[in-house]
Amino acid sequence: MPQRFLTWSLSGRPRGEGDVMPRVVVFDEFGGPEVLRVTDEAVPEPGPGEVRVRIEATAVNPLDLMMRAGSSPAPVPLPRARLGVEASGVVDAVGSGVTSLEVGQSVLVSAVPNAAAAGTYADYTVLAAQHVIPRPDGMDAITAAATWVGFSTAYGALVEKAGMRPGDRVLISAASGSVGRSAIQIANQIGAIPIALTREDAKREELVAAGAAAVVVTEGVDLAEGVREVTGGGAEIVLDLVRGPGQQQLVTAAGPGATLVVAGFLDSRPTPFPVGVGLRIFTYASFEHTLDPVTVARMGAFLRAGVRLGAIKPVVGEVFALEDAAEAHRRVESGANGKIILAPKL
Ligand SMILES: NC(=O)c1ccc[n+]([C@@H]2O[C@H](COP(=O)([O-])OP(=O)(O)OC[C@H]3O[C@@H](n4cnc5c(N)ncnc54)[C@H](OP(=O)(O)O)[C@@H]3O)[C@@H](O)[C@H]2O)c1
Repeated sequence: MPQRFLTWSLSGRPRGEGDVMPRVVVFDEFGGPEVLRVTDEAVPEPGPGEVRVRIEATAVNPLDLMMRAGSSPAPVPLPRARLGVEASGVVDAVGSGVTSLEVGQSVLVSAVPNAAAAGTYADYTVLAAQHVIPRPDGMDAITAAATWVGFSTAYGALVEKAGMRPGDRVLISAASGSVGRSAIQIANQIGAIPIALTREDAKREELVAAGAAAVVVTEGVDLAEGVREVTGGGAEIVLDLVRGPGQQQLVTAAGPGATLVVAGFLDSRPTPFPVGVGLRIFTYASFEHTLDPVTVARMGAFLRAGVRLGAIKPVVGEVFALEDAAEAHRRVESGANGKIILAPKL
């Protein structure tokens, strides 16, 4: 079926002379941040079961950098590939059969299954209605964009997969990152005990302030001893966002009967198969949950409760204009503190 296109102005009026075309960030070849360019693109009308979202804020995700560099797990068709899997905005148009959302509603994007075609580094995108959910009350657009992916990954891995319960001691690698900080907050919301791991001693205070019950610095120490010191024993759950040779040390530090959830891959070195007495092992990919409306409804309920209680608070780093997407990527590559945001209407 041919795709129908609407030409639309940024003001929401049909486009007239002098109006600016909606913008989208694309790349035509793999490479460094310099391959990103902003171009105009007509806005597609949502088809049956779809909604069009006017993007208010989008966050830079590590996957965006991998897609741009040509190293993402899924192939990226070129040219004119789009980027962006974390965003918030306002429903701008709804396709036939959509009853869950209405025009003008503040939303966040819960999944972008095909980011290269429908990525959120843009003024608009069109998604299946089931991948767009109402924004928690009182949450602004930038905070919402910075929240969902970190939150849903940590929630899915810890609650849905590992079955985290009150009192569980949880080792969290890369705890200062977006998923790691969410994991700390979710563990606290549930009444578990988040133990933050970092390579840098300088991050100790910051992680305690972020809610960690204890912090273990991983470099140049006996990790098992460090964990024993702060827990008085081992840990029930290990959330590993790093992998690499350090993973076995985490499992050993946790001790017998632990549950390992592997949700990230920040260390590209080989990861030996983890071994431990009574060890349960899960891998986690967010699409397992974020493409399932029933699980997304549970995640949304937990998020709304967390926002109401003040337990879920993402850390926003800097906000860049959409035209400065390349600069935003450089900032992430140089080790940003907090989520880097692109706001189409700065
Ligand atoms: N499974 C999924 O569906 C899913 C969803 C989202 C993200 N992820 C993955 O989860 C991981 C974390 O994502 P994120 O967005 O939280 O990342 P992030 O915000 O970029 O995390 C940054 C932190 O990770 C730590 N880190 C970076 N490189 C490291 C290394 N080589 N070894 C040990 N620690 C390292 C650093 O903490 P310190 O300096 O304090 O050690 C850094 O502050 C990524 O691999 C990402 O691709 C998976």
